[in-house]
Amino acid sequence: MADQIRLLVVEDVPQVAQYIRGLLSSQQAIKLLDVVTDGSKVLPMIGELRPDVVMVDALLQGRVKGLTLVGRIQEAGMHVPVIVLTVPQQPVVVDPANGVHGVLGMPFTGYELVTRLQQVHQQSQVQDTSHLARMITVFAPKGGVGRTTLAFNLAVAIGQQGTRTVLIDGSLQFGDMRALLKVPMEAPSLLDLPTDRIQESDLADVLWRDPSGIDILLAPPRVEMAEMVTVRDLEKTLSLLRRVYEVVIVDTPAVVNDVNLAFLDASDTILEIVTFDSTAIHSTMVMADAFRMIGYPPTKVRYLVNRADSTGGIDPAVLSQALGRAPEHHVSSGGALVVRANNEGIPFVLADPSAQISQDLTRTASELIGAARVPAGAGRR
Ligand SMILES: Nc1ncnc2c1ncn2[C@@H]1O[C@H](COP(=O)(O)OP(=O)(O)OP(=O)(O)O)[C@@H](O)[C@H]1O
Ligand SMILES: [Mg+2]
Repeated sequence: MADQIRLLVVEDVPQVAQYIRGLLSSQQAIKLLDVVTDGSKVLPMIGELRPDVVMVDALLQGRVKGLTLVGRIQEAGMHVPVIVLTVPQQPVVVDPANGVHGVLGMPFTGYELVTRLQQVHQQSQVQDTSHLARMITVFAPKGGVGRTTLAFNLAVAIGQQGTRTVLIDGSLQFGDMRALLKVPMEAPSLLDLPTDRIQESDLADVLWRDPSGIDILLAPPRVEMAEMVTVRDLEKTLSLLRRVYEVVIVDTPAVVNDVNLAFLDASDTILEIVTFDSTAIHSTMVMADAFRMIGYPPTKVRYLVNRADSTGGIDPAVLSQALGRAPEHHVSSGGALVVRANNEGIPFVLADPSAQISQDLTRTASELIGAARVPAGAGRR
């Protein structure tokens, strides 16, 4: 089930463990991953199983006692909410700053157990995105405006600033990155990631390591394989990448479909490319309406004018008026440098760092990375 909460229980009293197992066996909302009896084994298990919530008995005995374990989970920066199970004789107060995100007093009913788990899980989803990578999706409702070129160079420019960056080729049918970077057909794609328990160690075999220093998750090699990518698998992959990297950049095709919406929903920032072209401007306005209806806050979208020095007779004030504000970023035309770099499969920001377009891209990278975060998924679903 897509929304099942994955629970790890730390409990050394067999009767209590049995009671919890019994309560959870008759419902679908919570998936009990395991019951651990030894507190010293819990940290590596959290790393491996990646539970959504951990429940710890405050009275846990052994080398690592219950509340000591709660403190260690917090100190290790595992970013998993913890519910402390306790008895009336030993009251524990909810204290998120010290790693106690919820308390459940024994005895409890199945209803109390499930609702407490759901409540704590939901709060953790809303509140804590601080440890996740900044996710920037490069999007435009109009084709050929420079998304792929800019997404690649932006990822490299951000990577050059010492930030661990992954680029996802979200153009699933035509996999533009494969062509741009001259990646062999047999190179693995996001379809080669396991769909069930995806782990950090799986990434090494699948990601393409570009000489420019960034990692790239490629699109499938054939058009018809794009249909095999499900939103659910994609969300799991994004969630893992956002834990492992500091910045995730996504290149997208010019469509509004479930997969693209999954990228846009999850993003902190939608970097929307617009050019001085009347049809591109019109599509951008139509898209702004759609984003409003979806419920994205205006701050989630940042406009980048590509080829900003080629106005084609359109007054920049007209563009700002159409967008409802001045665009946040500008990148000039790169002419022959861009064509040559693209044809050689190298980023222009490295081929000629002093060119105007490279400087524009580097500045944009700094502006984006410094920009305020918007909570992922804000306003939708
Ligand atoms: N700032 C620029 N200066 C010069 N050429 C550019 C610039 N931006 C993009 N191009 C060129 O425009 C063409 C289209 O770019 P690109 O493929 O990146 O766009 P796209 O939006 O990803 O297109 P598609 O709809 O096919 O996915 C490429 O030939 C690229 O070299
Ligand atoms: Mg493209």
